[in-house]
Amino acid sequence: MATNLKITPINGPLGAEICGINLANISDSEFEAIHLAWLDNCVILLRGQELTDQDLINFSKRLGTLDFAPVQETGRRFVKGYPEIYVISNVIENGQPIGSLGAGEAVWHTDMSYLEEPPKASMVYALEIPPVGGKTYFCNMYKALELLPNSLQTRINGLRLKHDGTYNSGGYLREGVEAIDDPVTSEGVYHPLICSHPETNRPVLYLGRRRNAYIEGLTLDESDKLLDEIWSYATHEEIAWGHKWMVGDVVLWDNRCTMHKRDSFNPETRRVLHRTQIKGQTRPSA
Ligand code: SIN
Repeated sequence: MATNLKITPINGPLGAEICGINLANISDSEFEAIHLAWLDNCVILLRGQELTDQDLINFSKRLGTLDFAPVQETGRRFVKGYPEIYVISNVIENGQPIGSLGAGEAVWHTDMSYLEEPPKASMVYALEIPPVGGKTYFCNMYKALELLPNSLQTRINGLRLKHDGTYNSGGYLREGVEAIDDPVTSEGVYHPLICSHPETNRPVLYLGRRRNAYIEGLTLDESDKLLDEIWSYATHEEIAWGHKWMVGDVVLWDNRCTMHKRDSFNPETRRVLHRTQIKGQTRPSA
């Protein structure tokens, strides 16, 4: 089948834009090209898509089994009948938030790294976008590792980091979890700080998020100092790219080699995005 698919790397440390396809109807060879572009560029952007929730799920399933939407601050927020779809929104309807994360800043993180098997990918479709703010930034964690001085890389090699399961990236307590601000005892799971990406085999820094993070075997003070040093390199602007959303955008990112954060926006304006989370070859192996 002939295709108009065109891949253009974004002029930056990660990301590529893919044009000329309708994600609701793609061939196997188009899927293969998208998959390779995603592995090579860590994040891909497709504009002007018109997808139903079922289309979003169908495409996401080509990448692997889907995770259900995570438990959020005020209970599950997913689309009725589609537990795989996580709604990111500040919109309140009938006195209830229709989604998660509100209108505030969401700090740097990688999705659901507090699980033993975090999702390898997240795919977000933009339904409503405010005129100003709410931009999402991505940073390249292969390059973050390269930015660390050799001595620091050697120091952290073999260490494991606890990824906190208490708070989400918007700073909200997850439902059913106790509010504990001691990183040593808070809920979470350990992953190696330096991993190798299971599909590209490239070494990568795996940080998750800063709040309540804790490096196994160190005192809290030692752990905090070392983490602050690592984080001072990890989100440097030279390895990050900011995406200004338009309605119809689809962004697919690789949680194993990127982190992302989101700017705040005017809470009087509406922002609605639907996200899937894809399991499979998820945990970066050391
Ligand atoms: C997220 O998945 O962390 C939210 C990203 C966004 O709101 O742009």
